[in-house]
Amino acid sequence: MIKEVFKPNPEFAKNARIKNMCEYQALQDAAIRDYEGFWGSYAKEKLDWVEPFHTVLDESNFPFVKWFEGGKLNVSTQCIDRHLDSRKNKAAILFEGDRGDKQTITYLDLYYNVNRFANLLKNEFGVKKGDRVVIYMPMIPEAAYAMLACARIGAIHSIVFGGFSAEALKDRIEDADAKVVITADGAYRKDKPYMLKPVVDEALNGKTSVERVLVVERNNEEVNWVEGRDFSYNELIKKQSNECEAEAMDAEDPLFLLYTSGSTGKPKGVQHNQAGYILWAQMTMEWVFDVKENDTYWCTADIGWITGHTYIVYGPLSMGATTVMFEGVPTYPDAGRAWKMVQDYKVNQFYTAPTAIRVLHKMGEHEPLKYDLSSLKVLGTVGEPIDPSAWKWYYEEVGGSRCPIVDTYWQTETGGHVISPLPGATPIKPGCATLPLPGIIAEIVDKDGNKKEHDETGLLCITRPWPSMIRGIWGDKERFIKSYFGDVKQNGRGVYFTGDGALYDEDGYITITGRTDDVINVSGHRMGTAEVEAALAKEDEVAEVAVVGKPHPIKGEGIFAYVVMKHSLKDSRFESYEAIEKELNEMIKKEIGNIALCDDIVFVPGLPKTRSGKIMRRILRSIAKGEEITQDISTLEDPSIVATIKSLVK
Ligand code: PRX
Repeated sequence: MIKEVFKPNPEFAKNARIKNMCEYQALQDAAIRDYEGFWGSYAKEKLDWVEPFHTVLDESNFPFVKWFEGGKLNVSTQCIDRHLDSRKNKAAILFEGDRGDKQTITYLDLYYNVNRFANLLKNEFGVKKGDRVVIYMPMIPEAAYAMLACARIGAIHSIVFGGFSAEALKDRIEDADAKVVITADGAYRKDKPYMLKPVVDEALNGKTSVERVLVVERNNEEVNWVEGRDFSYNELIKKQSNECEAEAMDAEDPLFLLYTSGSTGKPKGVQHNQAGYILWAQMTMEWVFDVKENDTYWCTADIGWITGHTYIVYGPLSMGATTVMFEGVPTYPDAGRAWKMVQDYKVNQFYTAPTAIRVLHKMGEHEPLKYDLSSLKVLGTVGEPIDPSAWKWYYEEVGGSRCPIVDTYWQTETGGHVISPLPGATPIKPGCATLPLPGIIAEIVDKDGNKKEHDETGLLCITRPWPSMIRGIWGDKERFIKSYFGDVKQNGRGVYFTGDGALYDEDGYITITGRTDDVINVSGHRMGTAEVEAALAKEDEVAEVAVVGKPHPIKGEGIFAYVVMKHSLKDSRFESYEAIEKELNEMIKKEIGNIALCDDIVFVPGLPKTRSGKIMRRILRSIAKGEEITQDISTLEDPSIVATIKSLVK
């Protein structure tokens, strides 16, 4: 299929860091010619080292690779201290609360706030290098201070998205064996207070590794207080000194864990380390968003996801940019909130998810026209494929047909963008992530590592280690090897497989076709079907359950569950199927959180299984989508079940 191509605006390209495709190709050729030379020179140029590294890349223990060995640095210093000479009065964070309250945090303010926070953790709670600190916070500046304070003293933070339930939080606390939890009483959403601290209380019920809970008082609602365990940030912070020496960290010391979904019921604690991560966070900020010294950049993600880590906090601050942080929802009080903020802050780069674009489009087709959006220079999308109609609206109505859209493909595991247009160089096509960034060797291959021809779907792999790649799954080396390096081999060695299918078009551009595993993408959030199934199976009356994704007009994918009950409705304790559905969704809320609620629940007498007992999910996916069943069903234990299930799905 030939897609429309949009060339970079020559005026923009003139001042861009990468100005044309020749420059892009020259960089990529340089990386291929001398991979270590390429990365080594950027690591020297972009990072401030306490001690220089002696080895760029050590692959001797592949896939456990080491970048920039021998080097010592501190990530909070990269993000704050080194900007103080030239940018101390520049806004580092522009915060806007749900209710419109505003704060400007300069780099000097950030320095003091982070140092005080680091001192608090160190001196009051005894947090040491290598300790795990769970952060369960709303989108307020203290969340960023907490991350940077951990980085300053070498503690490993693990942020848990504020929408996760107590059970999900508990699992993550336990897996990381965390010593401290940082939270808030709550925050505001749609002008109303909501609570986080009670969820932490529930998660810590019973035996726990957590010794201290630090509570930022944001909405001042009444919360339960456990004597000796819970402490008020607002009180303790007053006593802390403004100076805290930054710990010199080895390039490969862990920086953070971030739990994400895989193909089993247990989330994976993705580990990122210091130097490689921060290097790529900074480089991609500069290349992909092309942020300039006086620009204001806004990413609407939540810090609970990798996008918030890399592109609200670490990336923008490491390059000395001004980053907007927003507590509320972009559609409240009305569909113009986001556009008003773009106008008021004169935002130059705006980065959001296709789901948000679809919602904003639906709520206000011409709403952007009511605001002055002329400051915008680059628009970005992340997390899921963007459909042509959302792309077109974003390009025309929001960007005034003037701004390039960078469709950034990446993952929690890649740390930063890996496939994306460069706004001054790459001709873009709607819905296409285009080309690997310089230094990223991404290929679409078959299981033996042979490159696919164009228009043939294959497995999207990154065939050489890159600095910001995942370094491990916390506490599970085998799972790390098996999850990422077990499916595809090239020249006798496992290569990193993203889990996504993709294809090359006639120009060699890469289009992502979606996950090849049992992971679905709900509103840009990654959800393992096995996790949802495990939650549903906790309901007593459930005998068996299978969960698949189904296209959804706003969320991209919705969750579709097939449930087999132990008893007939008559013999169960429920009065109606609606009552069971309600109970099942309550179970999901309890086990995972609202983000995993099912869009459809269908009660079926059995599931399509092979004679060896394997559930044929492909058939269930096709039925959910209303597609004809084309696959061979004769190998099923009971082929007639397919027609039965079909008749039950509306
Ligand atoms: O399937 C891909 C999809 O999101 C997955 C990664 O999810 P997560 O680790 O939660 O990180 C999301 C934010 C980086 C990928 O495996 N994905 C991400 N970006 C795109 C995408 N699918 C299509 N186009 C994209 N630009």
